[in-house]
Amino acid sequence: MELAGKKIILGLSGGIACYKAAELARLLGKAGASVQVAMTDAATHFMTTVTMQALTGKPVFTDQWDGRIANNMAHIDLSREADAILIAPCSADFMFKLAHGACDDLLSTLCLARPAGLPLLVAPAMNVEMWQNPATQRNAARLKEDGIRIMGPGAGEQACGETGLGRMLEPEQLLEEVIASFQPKVLSGKRILLTAGPTFEPIDPVRGITNLSSGKMGFAIARAAREAGAQVTLVTGPTGLQTPYGVTRIDVQTAQQMQDAVLKQVSGQDVFIAVAAVADWRVVGASEQKLKKDAAGTPPQLQLAPNPDILAAVAALPQRPYCVGFAAESENLAQYGEEKRRRKNVPLLVGNIGHQTFGRDDNELTLFEDSGQTTLPRADKQALARQLVVAIARRI
Ligand code: C5P
Repeated sequence: MELAGKKIILGLSGGIACYKAAELARLLGKAGASVQVAMTDAATHFMTTVTMQALTGKPVFTDQWDGRIANNMAHIDLSREADAILIAPCSADFMFKLAHGACDDLLSTLCLARPAGLPLLVAPAMNVEMWQNPATQRNAARLKEDGIRIMGPGAGEQACGETGLGRMLEPEQLLEEVIASFQPKVLSGKRILLTAGPTFEPIDPVRGITNLSSGKMGFAIARAAREAGAQVTLVTGPTGLQTPYGVTRIDVQTAQQMQDAVLKQVSGQDVFIAVAAVADWRVVGASEQKLKKDAAGTPPQLQLAPNPDILAAVAALPQRPYCVGFAAESENLAQYGEEKRRRKNVPLLVGNIGHQTFGRDDNELTLFEDSGQTTLPRADKQALARQLVVAIARRI
């Protein structure tokens, strides 16, 4: 429940993307937020208040003169209770209103009346030409100057049949942005490079050597680092995971490809976090054709060669980033973790127990460093990733 206890005002202005706001309201609620919807008159032409009320369990406000609030000051009362205001979709007209401090309907008035410091996030949604129009771009620049967070828009096919920038971000992406807005920006301006997932070392075109790493821990750290304000590049082996919003992802298969990608990206990075469970060996001379069973069923003889140690290679660079290693052990973590940290020559090594983390959504981490060991008790991987990001930020 990443938004437990948070009160969010979800404002809808007029646009076809209102249909996505229904799903967004549901996702915010599932994440634990209490969602209060306010809609402009134009928005009610695209989405009914009944739908939004049913999804949020709260009456929807559309009218500045709504008698349901005793003192008739809905614009003040609603914004005083909120932890954030999210406008999705935000039309070109509503951007104009926000940029100029207009207050001729409930939603614009409650935005203008929000207390200083209350986060206001907007998700533009409009036709590509409307978005690219210098007037809209001027308004967008003003909103940024005023500390209003503009999320997107995305590019692609539009409801009007044209193609280009102007699509509202997907509800899942907006949810990630809202969660991120509540995280401390401890890595603001930093560049973070990570590896994650397993590697896959081919035996032939359809078989290979791999391991049970799901990539969840590495992806969670990538997301946490992005939430904390970093520019994040994630080099990942094969996983079925979705890329965290705002993270640059590079897909690789083998350890050698992972090392090549890391060494290409490493210059200018502030931190390198090696989370991947890199295969220790690769098959020499992997077959280009599928290996066939012979009549006697004799198994093929595989010759293995050691893979490059990516973390050690980065740690040996003359201008190395702050390096963080991971160790998945099955026993004796306290001893092996510290030994590995020294062998890899990194200031921070994060240990976990392999069979208690691979594929799971929770984990327990032990941090090994010169000053000793600290344990981050068992918790959801995303929560642990945020704690780890704060710990790294303190050390750089
Ligand atoms: O040597 P071991 O695999 O136990 O070390 C684990 C740490 O080293 C992890 O941070 C892992 O991502 C990294 N590593 C690597 N390249 C390898 C093997 C491990 O970067 N070939």
